[in-house]
Amino acid sequence: MATTHGKRGIEVLQDPALNKSTAFTEAEKQALGLVGLVPDVTETEDLQLQRVNAQLAEKPTDLERYIYLINLLDHNETLFYRTLMSDPTRFLPIVYDPTIGEACLKFGHIYRQARGMYLSMNRRGKVKDVLRNWPQKDIRFICVTDAGRILGLGDLGANGMGIPIGKLQLYTACAGVPPQHLLPMYLDAGTNNEQYLRDPLYLGMRKARPSTEELYSFVDEFVDAVQEVFPKCCIHFEDWTGADAVHLLQRYRDKYCVYNDDVQGTAGIVLAGMINAAKIKGAKLSNERYLFLGAGSAGIGLANLLCSAMVEEGLTLKQAQSRVYMFDINGLLEDTRTDLADFQKPYAHKHAPMRDFVAAIEDTKPTTIIGVSTVGGTFTQKVIEAMSRINERPVILALSNPTEKAECTPEQAYTWSKGKAIYAAGVQFPPVRINGRTFFSGQANNFYIFPAIGMAVFATEASRVTDEMFIEAARAVADQVPPDLLNQGLLYPLQSNILETEIQTAARVARLVFDSGLARVARPDDMVAFIRQHVYKPEYSREAARAAGGA
Ligand code: NAI
Repeated sequence: MATTHGKRGIEVLQDPALNKSTAFTEAEKQALGLVGLVPDVTETEDLQLQRVNAQLAEKPTDLERYIYLINLLDHNETLFYRTLMSDPTRFLPIVYDPTIGEACLKFGHIYRQARGMYLSMNRRGKVKDVLRNWPQKDIRFICVTDAGRILGLGDLGANGMGIPIGKLQLYTACAGVPPQHLLPMYLDAGTNNEQYLRDPLYLGMRKARPSTEELYSFVDEFVDAVQEVFPKCCIHFEDWTGADAVHLLQRYRDKYCVYNDDVQGTAGIVLAGMINAAKIKGAKLSNERYLFLGAGSAGIGLANLLCSAMVEEGLTLKQAQSRVYMFDINGLLEDTRTDLADFQKPYAHKHAPMRDFVAAIEDTKPTTIIGVSTVGGTFTQKVIEAMSRINERPVILALSNPTEKAECTPEQAYTWSKGKAIYAAGVQFPPVRINGRTFFSGQANNFYIFPAIGMAVFATEASRVTDEMFIEAARAVADQVPPDLLNQGLLYPLQSNILETEIQTAARVARLVFDSGLARVARPDDMVAFIRQHVYKPEYSREAARAAGGA
């Protein structure tokens, strides 16, 4: 818990973890030398929230609301999280996807104040010293990006810093991981984005990206330094290019506490949707056939986790892989292709070359298509109609984001399939009404999974993050969709109850952590109560009250 560290007066107001703004009591004002420095009132947190909402209502766009909220975070952390947690359905799309995409594109221009750490490759050989500059010593999560591939937006260089900042806010807002243990980080390896290199307000190194060997050797130094400077820290890799994401995960996963959300978190949440789609159809995962559009980090991560889940249902790995086909920018992955990476080869089956996605559907007869291509509109009317011809309930997962990159909209999926599709997207779409029927489409958003995994790792001090933990999280999320909503085609739980959903998910993952012998704390009797004990509450710290001689 934060302390005032002897801070008084204006220093208390300038510390976002201590600042209560208009909520200091008279005793606190007296004890901390605040009399006259704040209005002579003592407001409740709810009244403060009312003011925040009124001010937000004056903002014309979500980007303006994003800037306002980040500014609030710079001044008053508790009120920021109280706002987010008061209405997650409303605020998550503002602090994260889809607004974050626009915020990143303009990051250097809307920048107000440093947040997190900027670790540039110019600091080679000095990474430990740089990490030691961070004031908080008990860091449990670093979310690190080199911004090689931000969302579906490509190489954003230093503008990608918005992503680790936003991701870590979701650890707190969705699963209650206390914010003081979280460190967003941009690993600056330059950028190949010409537009940013020419922009005078760009905040990163003005250099082209290095060779893979140079980059990986710097990441090695970083990962190694973290073990020494923050020994309980889990490293969350985010938005690296597909190949780097997969290779860096392979490089560290068995040695250190690391995971990659694009690979494993995406896989977990999509798996949850697939589990529920199969439930709606009265089938098992291993009865289904899958065709991916896109074979990058998200696609491969999902295919691998899906196969592990099918193996848990009784298939051999080969049998599981034979149910998964992939199609990328160069066509169907098949065994004569010479351009495939090692990690794509398990899905390159014996098959004639094929460049047409509709033909691939007609040939491989998938029950489910999964869009992770980064290209909007690629699930065309012909695609959906082909899926509807061969399936009573075609499962259509259009996961690319931001919104305009979705492979198809829910309206298109339901219209073109004549209401038969079971659909989810990577972004939130409003309900659609077609021929008098209302369709609610779920959002396969990683934020159901990675904050819960984070909470489980935080509470158990797990030494590794495993695929089994993501499969368990997927099952836990899937199990929390009530049957009536499932029957209406909703694959994911409602966002309004996200904290409780994640506490239950974290408890199931934590149980697995203990069963696997990966925990570094004693096993509790009641896992849900154990998780609840660790949950951050957006209430003002009692430290100021204590300093004032109160409770
Ligand atoms: P990536 O860049 O690693 O892979 C993209 C893949 O799509 C490549 O295999 C590429 O060949 C293929 N592709 C590109 N254009 C294509 C076309 N016209 N037709 C067929 N294939 C094409 O990207 P990554 O990391 O795999 O992410 C893919 C998408 O998934 C992104 O848009 C991202 O926003 C989304 N995503 C969604 C998540 C979610 O909804 N929960 C989480 C993570 C990623």
